[in-house]
Amino acid sequence: MSRALTVAVPKGRLAKQLARSLGAAGVPAEALSDTDRTLVREASVDGVPMRFLLLKPDDVPTYVEHGACDLGIVGRDVLLEREADLLVPHDTGLGRCRMVVAAPEAFVGAPRDRALRVATKYPRIARNHFARAGTEVEVIFVQGSVETAPLVGLSDVIVDLVETGETLRQNGLTVRETVCDVSAVVVVNRVVFKLHRAAIAHFTAKLPAR
Ligand code: PRP
Repeated sequence: MSRALTVAVPKGRLAKQLARSLGAAGVPAEALSDTDRTLVREASVDGVPMRFLLLKPDDVPTYVEHGACDLGIVGRDVLLEREADLLVPHDTGLGRCRMVVAAPEAFVGAPRDRALRVATKYPRIARNHFARAGTEVEVIFVQGSVETAPLVGLSDVIVDLVETGETLRQNGLTVRETVCDVSAVVVVNRVVFKLHRAAIAHFTAKLPAR
């Protein structure tokens, strides 16, 4: 491939783990360090020129789908929520956690006289999950601190990520169902995959595999 491969990398939750793994795979630390505010980093990996874009996780699928980046690394949660038209050739196993339905101890099941109220940052994942089960829901979108919703009567349950379980525990909530397992996956633009399969395989081979 004559031009540099451009990789969309998420800032935030996954960034540190990813920087360690990519560092071990030969990506220079400056390409991903969070002390630098430049968002486009050029780097040579095994003598091959590469470009890294540091993006908000939610934007990674957008850049790759539109071909502005050749490939990206993003949590499966973001990918499922966006239903982006991308190939997912590799699961790194990094940032492993679960998408779950959680509720307060006192919750005994969906109410009979109205829809189950579900607070979540992931409305599409929540809707799809309850549609599969045939449960009527009212999905309430919130941006974060989802665990507070059932505590103040905004919702009956939540759909959210759980990693250590500490946030649920400290807020008196328990897991009722697992929706899906989540970890960081590699996403690739469909056209780019056809044209540059070898370069992409060379890069993903350096990443950890689930
Ligand atoms: C995530 C998630 C849970 C928490 C789970 O929130 O939405 O709230 O982490 O982690 P745990 O099981 O290890 O406690 P995040 O930290 O991204 O913040 P947010 O609530 O503002 O979205």
